[in-house]
Amino acid sequence: MAECDPNAMKKAAAERAVDEYVKDGMTVGLGTGSTAYFAIMRVSELVKKGYKLRCVATSQQTEDIARENGVEIVNINDIEYIDVTIDGADEVDPKLNLIKGLGGALLREKIVAAATQTEVIVVDESKIVEKLGVRTALPVEVCRFGHVRTAYGLKLQGCEPVLRMKGGEPFVTDGGNYIYDCKFPEIERPFFLQSALDTIPGVVECGLFLNMAAVAVIAHRDGTVSEIRC
Ligand code: 5RP
Repeated sequence: MAECDPNAMKKAAAERAVDEYVKDGMTVGLGTGSTAYFAIMRVSELVKKGYKLRCVATSQQTEDIARENGVEIVNINDIEYIDVTIDGADEVDPKLNLIKGLGGALLREKIVAAATQTEVIVVDESKIVEKLGVRTALPVEVCRFGHVRTAYGLKLQGCEPVLRMKGGEPFVTDGGNYIYDCKFPEIERPFFLQSALDTIPGVVECGLFLNMAAVAVIAHRDGTVSEIRC
């Protein structure tokens, strides 16, 4: 692997995770984002080799990429549980608590993660942090109705909420909602913050994924790949 090549690192982590955790016959959750993309492509290679996999997509974008590459997508309502999900993250702390959602798919990603037995997170080493919130803003998905009021409630939690934009318009999620990116100085008590955000009317879901990941597969600049397990 070329040293410091971000795409090579994403590919290395994603392929290692699929090779290690995806087995023939499984129901597999497919994440969203530029790292999860390489996992989808690896799953597609397994399908072409003859593996029988049923996959659940965490976004319309992922569903489209998977289908274009011959991967069968099933409706999450038609399955009992998901064996393994391979997804990316924006920050990973030492206990495998995460910030997700810079790619805008946090709501479906959280629903899929909650239905998953083994949630495997694929990242490069730049995503590893001592405390959540130091590197990125926390994405919070909110109902469009009254979103300015909801943002006021978010601000009272000590952050600077910024409405996510795309092409001069507010970004709209697959669920038809808006996202506020909330920069906190750092998140000292993520469980407490999650509970506080859940009580704000209009908040649909936040990008804190706490106690959900079982494993993080981490690609390093020197070409090695390591794992952190819960
Ligand atoms: C999408 C996500 C992504 O997994 C996260 O943003 C990481 O993306 P990338 O691998 O492109 O850095 O949470 O909602």
